Amino acid sequence: MSLPAGPPVHGPCAQPPCPRRPLAKRPPCRYPAQMIQHDRLLIIDFGSQVTQLIARRLRELGVYCEIHPYQKVTDAFLTDFAPKAIIFSGGPASVFAEGAPMPPKSVFDLGVPILGICYGQQVMMHCLGGKVERGHGTAEFGRAFVTPTTDRLALLEGWFDQGREQVWMSHGDHVSEIAPGFKVYGTSPNAPFAITADPARRFFAVQFHPEVHHTPKGAELYGNFVRLAGFRGDWTMGAYREEAVARIRAQVGSERVICGLSGGVDSSVAAVLIHEAIGDQLTCVFVDHGLLRQDEAGQVVAMFRDHYKMPLIHADESGLFLAALEGVSDPEVKRRTIGRLFIEVFEKHARSVGGARFLAQGTLYPDVIESVSFSGGPSVTIKSHHNVGGLPERMGMTLVEPLRELFKDEVRALGRELGLPPGFIGRHPFPGPGLAIRCPGEVTREKLAILRQADAVFIDQIRRHGLYDEIWQAFVALLPVKTVGVMGDGRTYDYACALRAVTSVDGMTADYYPFSHEFLGETATRIINEVRGINRVTYDITSKPPGTIEWE
Ligand code: XMP
Repeated sequence: MSLPAGPPVHGPCAQPPCPRRPLAKRPPCRYPAQMIQHDRLLIIDFGSQVTQLIARRLRELGVYCEIHPYQKVTDAFLTDFAPKAIIFSGGPASVFAEGAPMPPKSVFDLGVPILGICYGQQVMMHCLGGKVERGHGTAEFGRAFVTPTTDRLALLEGWFDQGREQVWMSHGDHVSEIAPGFKVYGTSPNAPFAITADPARRFFAVQFHPEVHHTPKGAELYGNFVRLAGFRGDWTMGAYREEAVARIRAQVGSERVICGLSGGVDSSVAAVLIHEAIGDQLTCVFVDHGLLRQDEAGQVVAMFRDHYKMPLIHADESGLFLAALEGVSDPEVKRRTIGRLFIEVFEKHARSVGGARFLAQGTLYPDVIESVSFSGGPSVTIKSHHNVGGLPERMGMTLVEPLRELFKDEVRALGRELGLPPGFIGRHPFPGPGLAIRCPGEVTREKLAILRQADAVFIDQIRRHGLYDEIWQAFVALLPVKTVGVMGDGRTYDYACALRAVTSVDGMTADYYPFSHEFLGETATRIINEVRGINRVTYDITSKPPGTIEWE
């Protein structure tokens, strides 16, 4: 993730202007910490926008870590979690504020290495006897250069070979006096305590954010930290696969499980993993709601039933869904209608496989993390997202979520480990409500047929030009408007469509993909020539925000 440069922002840990993921209301993790067979690193979240990036950097180093909000980290939690090292994230609060976010005092007596970042540094100094001063207009936001002092520090192995290192600062308050036992190991023009440490206690505190892209040597710093904490880097997908299989067997016993298969990466990887664990106790349910892309149903059935030999119910419920969508043009009503019918269809099939008690789904770690929100109040609902993940509460089934510790790219790595074809693993995301939300206005069979063909041509173009893997997601939206054109000697009066292609890291923010004019022209010509019903093609160049990726 690259952070947008912006004007100085005042505040203890100034935040880049990007939206945060709405707080996911999830049940607590079902797996006791002891079931994770790896050394664990605890990230205490004080509310930074980039806390998840710390976890990404650590996972890339083969270190198992979990993010927990500071309010959850009690003495009992620390005993249960038994971290081998701890990181304090940044955060927007001030240590001077009433009820300022703090860790329990006992955290400093555990004898494990601690790394404090930005607000985390201020927390360490505040708790251990140093001094923090209010910003008062001295906020620092953006690139800075840190130079070393004369003392050497294992945390900085590989740093300063060119004399100074670029870092990314984002803070208002700052440390004005370090705590007893600490020394300074790096300074910047505005940050005399940029890097501080008490090597004897293995406490480290930095004023900048090593997890962001703009601190190029940040990964080395984290690598040094976990090495000196004694991590073995044993968090590999091979190891995870074995543990997950054992865990699924222990959870499910001899009961039956159904898995909602959408054909997307997450549910596919979950299904293959669970099938490896419990074989034909698993039945996959693939609901064809009539809103799928061209040839999609055939591909999913061929892959799972024919190739993986999994019990698979291909529920063709297109009649049910399309009838319910007749006359509906409000995006939220569409989404809710589709969500409700999904539940009904699932319940029907859960009964038909002899009363499955477990429902498997591909929930990922970003959906589970309960990050700290300082925004106050619930987030505004932009769209009622749904996929099979919206089902369980109302169905009264127990969840099997074997991917809930993983980030998306780890799921892809696990998919490769399980032998899923690369083309399948790299597929663009496809939303649960399918083409219904790419067809603003009323959804009809005629419009869906036109949309499917145009979408297939666009994706074919992208593949022919070797661009598929550079793009996060690409699709066509069929606009609810007809325009006049001329083909041959005749007048046409057909639909207009919009091409949408975006780059993104996680779907939370996105930029339009900068196709060449030649590519766009060629694609427009192909769509108009090959798809009856479309006579005008536009390219949507809206970023997210302010747009969203899907049109509805
Ligand atoms: P938006 O349109 O909100 O989409 O910018 C962000 C990402 O989420 C996908 N999306 C969905 N996925 N169920 C899903 O499983 C949904 O209801 C849903 N709505 C949007 C979208 O395709 C993009 O990748």
